[in-house]
Amino acid sequence: MKLMLFGVTGGTGAQLLAQALGAGHQVTAVARDPARVPVTDPDAPLTVLPGDALAPETWRQAVAGHDAVLSCLGSTDRKHPTTVYSQGTRNLVEAMRASGVGRLLCLSSAGLEITPEVPLPQRLVTRYVIQRLYRHGYADMARMESLVRSPAADGTAWTVVRPPMLTDGPLTGTYRTAENARLERPKSLSRADLAHYLLTHVDDRRAHRAVVEVAY
Ligand SMILES: NC(=O)c1ccc[n+]([C@@H]2O[C@H](COP(=O)([O-])OP(=O)(O)OC[C@H]3O[C@@H](n4cnc5c(N)ncnc54)[C@H](OP(=O)(O)O)[C@@H]3O)[C@@H](O)[C@H]2O)c1
Repeated sequence: MKLMLFGVTGGTGAQLLAQALGAGHQVTAVARDPARVPVTDPDAPLTVLPGDALAPETWRQAVAGHDAVLSCLGSTDRKHPTTVYSQGTRNLVEAMRASGVGRLLCLSSAGLEITPEVPLPQRLVTRYVIQRLYRHGYADMARMESLVRSPAADGTAWTVVRPPMLTDGPLTGTYRTAENARLERPKSLSRADLAHYLLTHVDDRRAHRAVVEVAY
């Protein structure tokens, strides 16, 4: 497949890039600082474009011809509001619709919603610690999730993936998934396995227009 990736200088995105190239896919990676894109094989079928998700003029034209766009965009700034999830994803969707690319996978968080399936102690920690600490990021993830459900994303086969706490553990390829449903006791997930889910579900129609929980 021909894949366009965002966020490859981050933890999950770097794993995704390595796995995509390892699986023989042709990759275009958009990064704010191309020098930080982790490339181990200079002969890999990889094109790196300098670009900011919030400034689509630099990469918009390059979207055409890809089979899917996979976004590992995220904000680590806990102090200030962000629009990287909502406006960044809006820019992706608009560019994809303009160029006829119909498949999008992007990342949100399981902590966005506290469901009865989550054990009480974890519910309390999520509500009173995590949701407070990451309130700006969560607010913008919620806007992103609304955006993909809105007419603005009509015609886009989107998947919003909600992982729990991410770790730098190994790739196992073994984890649970729930499409438009909640997982019981979601614990953690390695960034390598999150990337594995993204890459191996590009063609999964059950994940189209779905919010998917992925966790051990
Ligand atoms: N950490 C957790 O436990 C946890 C739990 C649930 C969900 N999540 C979510 O899972 C996702 C992946 O997490 P992670 O820790 O692997 O991510 P990360 O290491 O924080 O990587 C984020 C990536 O987004 C890129 N990015 C941010 N703003 C950008 C912009 N305007 N234009 C282009 N690129 C931009 C960063 O690029 P630069 O290198 O240029 O900054 C980086 O490559 C994130 O969305 C995160 O919110 C995390």
